[in-house]
Amino acid sequence: MEIDKQPNISAWPMPRQEVENMHAYSAPLEGRRDYLRLDFNENTIGPSPLVAKALKQISAGEIATYPEYSGLREAVVENLTSKGLKVPLQTTQIGLFNGVDAAIHAIFHAYGNQGDQLLTTTPTFGYYGPCAHMQGMQISEIPYKGKHFDFPMSEIKEALIAQKPRLLIICNPNNPTGTRLAPEMILELAVFAPNTLVVIDELYEAFTGDSILPIVDFEKTPNLVVLRSLSKTAGLAGLRIGFAIGDSNVINRINRVTGPYDVNGFAVTAALTALKDQPYIDEYVAKVLLAKQWIEVQLKQSNVRHHLAGGNYLLIWPKRQNTEIERALKENGILVRNMNGKALIDKSLRVSIGTKKQMQEFWEAFQKNESMSTAK
Ligand SMILES: Cc1ncc(COP(=O)(O)O)c(C=O)c1O
Repeated sequence: MEIDKQPNISAWPMPRQEVENMHAYSAPLEGRRDYLRLDFNENTIGPSPLVAKALKQISAGEIATYPEYSGLREAVVENLTSKGLKVPLQTTQIGLFNGVDAAIHAIFHAYGNQGDQLLTTTPTFGYYGPCAHMQGMQISEIPYKGKHFDFPMSEIKEALIAQKPRLLIICNPNNPTGTRLAPEMILELAVFAPNTLVVIDELYEAFTGDSILPIVDFEKTPNLVVLRSLSKTAGLAGLRIGFAIGDSNVINRINRVTGPYDVNGFAVTAALTALKDQPYIDEYVAKVLLAKQWIEVQLKQSNVRHHLAGGNYLLIWPKRQNTEIERALKENGILVRNMNGKALIDKSLRVSIGTKKQMQEFWEAFQKNESMSTAK
């Protein structure tokens, strides 16, 4: 073999062309623990104390054996049922994943053919893009509309007809614009496009109550998949556990492309405990919603451009450069996320909402640093 005469031979094995062409999802994840973390929309006070207790009781035997999942799907069904469902859920309609990120990855892996279309909105959660790219899919992104970032319903419908996408992903409420879409409208879209798999990322649903689960019958709309996670409200981001909920056949196919033990034993124990302590989660959500009202009043009274809708986050356009304010806040022990490069919200900061006390701390530091600009 005349290997050295072949063009494009590199010193290391080349991956698939789609992988070579793509950029990995990247986020500033390191060195965050000692800060007030208002940058990743996580729970800012941690999980239920029962979770830490349950984790401490994990035996060496449990650590040494592969994880067991029995009871977890039942616990998810029970938790979701307690909020009221039109059609009862079956355990076969629940997929367990190493965080919703892994569910998103698996959905693309199972459903995204090379050249297929992903239809989504912009700006939205940053991991859908890399997943589409790794499959060699085309991405069609429809911008949110107007100064309130309204959902582009008619444009999405037109694109569904014209492009016949393989996947439609809607983040509801959307991260980072907070845009809310009524569950009835989503159902309408799924019925309208039966050949498109419609994925609803409901990561922040607890803050709006806009879930599609109470009204959906997956047997009638098997092209709908709902994503839920214990990362945010339940405070388990570090353990990685999320769920995909949909038609049994669809969940079965998405599960086929995951490893047998992708969800680890610590996550299982924590999830079982967190799902049973719903009052703790409800209390946290209530605290965040109160803090949200408080910060909204402050923002309205100030002259700072802002946008606040669904979710435990808001957008602020500081008068000073956002990266300067981001840096100054960090010096004050507070992390926020700059949205530079994101369509429509360039130059803004996304600020996660924690408790009222935490928002007071943020607001004090923000105002102090903003006023430095006018003094200059
Ligand atoms: C909209 C959205 N979807 C999915 C995820 C990932 O969630 P998980 O931690 O369950 O992987 C995030 C995390 O920030 C998110 O904001």
